[in-house]
Amino acid sequence: MLLKKTVQIVVLAWGGYACHQKNESRKPDLKQGGKAYTEHCTSCHGKTGVGVVQFKAPALAGLEATYVYRQMMNFKNGVRGYAPQDTAGMQMAVIAKNWSDTAMLYHVAAYIDSLPPVTHPLRVTADAQNGKEIYQSICGSCHGSSGQGNTKLNAPSLLGSQPWYIASQFQKFKNGWRGSHPSDQFGAQMAAITSLVNDQSVNDIIAYLQALNPSTK
Ligand code: HEC
Ligand code: HEC
Repeated sequence: MLLKKTVQIVVLAWGGYACHQKNESRKPDLKQGGKAYTEHCTSCHGKTGVGVVQFKAPALAGLEATYVYRQMMNFKNGVRGYAPQDTAGMQMAVIAKNWSDTAMLYHVAAYIDSLPPVTHPLRVTADAQNGKEIYQSICGSCHGSSGQGNTKLNAPSLLGSQPWYIASQFQKFKNGWRGSHPSDQFGAQMAAITSLVNDQSVNDIIAYLQALNPSTK
């Protein structure tokens, strides 16, 4: 009697990243991505993706792969890091412009996405309750009610970013140093929001976001 063998195919879920990258049908390779990250990104963004304040390099750990990929392409194509006053953005733009292997970038972005989000100390005086109210009435509709981001709306997670970085990007959107390039439709959406919130409220929102970060629990 012949035994019938059932071959079970295990389908791995890749967090939706492959679906979002229309040009890439391959699965991301985290091992390759991790190797390239260590070689090219660790010096500024840290081994665990925690960021390095001295270099004005943000935390990357846990940022959505689609978002990371898009930002790299934005830096590469002069859509971000174009303003002469934006020295940190211009520094990152140099790195991205020298990066020609976009297929490898796909793996690096997936690797960054796989890193657990990190927490950072808050060094500003802030009112998290006021932050909660403003966040939930304005920011949450795009960035998610728990700050987790919303890939469908292209709004990144804000949970693992350093307080100084969130404040600096907010300011860049406000000044037109980010989000004012004609090809940056998502940045423009964010830039439009900045006139609704003053600097102290941004600090309050950041304090609230810190309390939301699951790694603080
Ligand atoms: C020389 C230092 C340096 C190196 C090396 C570097 N970065 Fe950066 N990166 C920066 C700085 C500074 C910024 C902040 C730019 C800004 O303020 O807009 C940044 C920002 C970013 C952002 C935007 C994050 C966000 O939340 O929007 C991404 C994504 C990024 N880097 C990915 C990478 C990757 C991937 C590598 C390796 C291939 C890399 N970086 C290597 C300095 C560096
Ligand atoms: C209409 C939707 C929308 C709303 C409302 C919104 N954002 Fe955004 N935000 C975005 C999008 C889209 C991006 C990504 C822009 C890009 O791709 O460069 C973004 C990016 C950001 C970034 C940059 C993150 C990074 O890693 O560099 C910060 C900081 C930010 N938003 C904070 C806020 C805060 C605080 C509020 C509330 C006051 C808010 N946003 C409200 C859509 C929104």
